[in-house]
Amino acid sequence: MIALRDVVVDYGRGARAVRAVDRVTLDVPRGQSVALIGPSGCGKSTLLFAVAGLIRPTAGEIRIADESVEGPRRDTALILQNAGLLPWKTVWQNANLSLFLGREYPKLTADAVLEELGLSDVKNRYPSELSEGMKRRVGIARALSTSPQVMLMDEPLASLDTLTKERIQDLFLKLWARHAFSFVLVTHDIEEAAFLGQRIVVLSARPASVKAVVDNPKMGGLDYRKAPAFRDVVLRLRTELERET
Ligand SMILES: Nc1ncnc2c1ncn2[C@@H]1O[C@H](COP(=O)(O)OP(=O)(O)OP(=O)(O)O)[C@@H](O)[C@H]1O
Ligand SMILES: [Mg+2]
Repeated sequence: MIALRDVVVDYGRGARAVRAVDRVTLDVPRGQSVALIGPSGCGKSTLLFAVAGLIRPTAGEIRIADESVEGPRRDTALILQNAGLLPWKTVWQNANLSLFLGREYPKLTADAVLEELGLSDVKNRYPSELSEGMKRRVGIARALSTSPQVMLMDEPLASLDTLTKERIQDLFLKLWARHAFSFVLVTHDIEEAAFLGQRIVVLSARPASVKAVVDNPKMGGLDYRKAPAFRDVVLRLRTELERET
């Protein structure tokens, strides 16, 4: 579904160019999940924005559904850390952003998505009236309301308390099972990567290159956090990251 071939991203040109991503090759099959983890400032967001079509790679190629990514795509949703809600619009209007973009999306309606995310009761509230965890869920609802084939997430649950974070991760896992989108999750959080990534790609310090790929075939159950395989993956990721920083 998503294919990256030798992707390089430089910021600036000539002597002042800064390389952020260095020859990353990666495949995400349809309906599968990949977590990207790496040291702070290594180039994770840059790589994700390139997949989202917001940054053009300096070299290499990114394809989604067998088409070269030339800009933002209708079938791709991006969720950022702060959820990016419009403060002057209600929860329902925020979740319906696709309507404001003047595009038609099939299947899901904002009402159904808000219901799935447990937000029906607050749909007429404004973002400033919500808890941080609710805001992040509205961000997920908005992304989902466009029926994406590809979901890209840049630390969507950063700086939430552990239990809120884990509850939203559980919810996200259920949504993924039901809607079968492919997703790439950028995270600092080792346990989040091990809970949500079928494969976890460990990136090097800047410029980001693929340092290790950890398979995580036993993920997918809500009780996986308590499984020995989960602990093994967490330990492996910790070791790889400590070597890198
Ligand atoms: N617009 C820009 N112009 C120049 N350099 C940039 C720009 N955006 C990012 N960079 C640099 O590129 C590198 C990678 O940045 P990026 O935001 O992708 O890292 P990250 O891994 O997402 O970091 P964090 O973990 O802090 O979110 C950093 O050194 C950063 O300073
Ligand atoms: Mg980042």
